[in-house]
Order: sequence, then structure tokens, then C-alpha cells
Amino acid sequence: MTEPTAPDKKPFLYVVVCAAGVARDVGKLITAAQEANWDVGVIATPQGLGFIDATAIEAQTGYPIRSAWRSPGDPRPLPPADAIAVAPATFNTINKWAAGISDTLALGILCEAYGMGIPTVALPYLNSAQAAHPAYHQSLDRLRGMGVRFGSCEPHRPRAGGAAERFRWEEALDLLEPLVSTAR
Ligand SMILES: Cc1cc2nc3c(=O)[nH]c(=O)nc-3n(C[C@H](O)[C@H](O)[C@H](O)COP(=O)(O)O)c2cc1C
Repeated sequence: MTEPTAPDKKPFLYVVVCAAGVARDVGKLITAAQEANWDVGVIATPQGLGFIDATAIEAQTGYPIRSAWRSPGDPRPLPPADAIAVAPATFNTINKWAAGISDTLALGILCEAYGMGIPTVALPYLNSAQAAHPAYHQSLDRLRGMGVRFGSCEPHRPRAGGAAERFRWEEALDLLEPLVSTAR
């Protein structure tokens, strides 16, 4: 559990966005989180940047989107996270995160979150061919063992155009609710 936030300061949620088609709708999660009293900053994977409207998201959050590492000596563009929601979470990022690979800023933040005790949830969005790979289930098991909670969206059929209508962005907040005590 994170330290209590000062009474006049909202808790800060990092939304980590990966490169899946549904990422274009991440504004829905930002809106829901802001309505639930979170301040929000977005961290996109380098591939994920191509799936989102950066200008619209920066206007919505009031913070720059982070994707690359800052230069040494540069100020940190975002406040520290009180919680993290990875949405959408790709096959690629889930497996690399579980393996402790930290070759994107998003993965660096995720890999450190466990040691820093930051409550973290993830909404995977992938197809059934990806989900069939044995590494994926091992990754979920490892991350669950680290306290990460996962959304319930079932993998969609490959090359079937996804299942964006079944992706429930607000589930990230539902999953976080029992993990945080400062969001209300
Ligand atoms: C149009 C398009 C849609 C994609 N949708 C998904 C998806 O739903 N889930 C997924 O895991 N990967 C998807 N991918 C593949 C990922 O973009 C790819 O694995 C990428 O390396 C993931 O990078 P990231 O995990 O760093 O964001 C998609 C790729 C493209 C081009």
C-alpha cells in the first residue's frame, strides 16, 4: 500500500497504454478515473504511441504523455504513481514485464512497481492465438503472484477485428478499488 496522499492532493494514476487497436479509446478510462477523483498521467509504449491521439490525451490529462526515458538531469514530467493501470496490456508487454525485461519506459515503470509496492492492475487485450502460447499463462501466474490483478476480457478470435465492444475500461478502477485506500 502506498503512503497516504495529502488531503488536498488527488491520488495519481499512471495509465500504461500498449500497442493494441483498442488503445484509441483510452480516453474512456481517463474520464472514468478523473470522475473517481484520480489525477491521471499516460505512459505509452513506443509502439503504443502510434495507436493513440496524443494531443487529445494531453489535453484531457493536463500532462505530457511519457514514452521515452528522460535525459539525466531532466525533471520528472509526472508526479509519482499511487497506482498503475495497464490498459490495454499486450501479449508482448505482459510477457516482457513478467520476465523482468525493462527496455521501454513503460516496462521500466512496471518492473519497478512491484518493489515499490505500487498497486497495479492490467486489462489484457489479445487474440486467442497469442493467448495459446504457454509463456502467456506463465506470465499471468508470475504477475498474479506479485499481486497484479487482471481484467476479465476474454481473448478474441485472430484476425476477427478484435472485440473492442467487450473491453470494459472501467474494470481497471474496479480492480484497483480494494488495493487502494486513498482514491476516494
Ligand atoms: C493494428 C494492430 C493491432 C494489434 N492489436 C494487438 C492486440 O490487440 N493485442 C496484442 O497483444 N498485440 C496487438 N498487436 C501487436 C502489437 O502491436 C505488437 O506486439 C507490439 O510489439 C506490442 O508492443 P508493446 O507491447 O510495446 O505495446 C497489434 C498490431 C497491430 C499493427
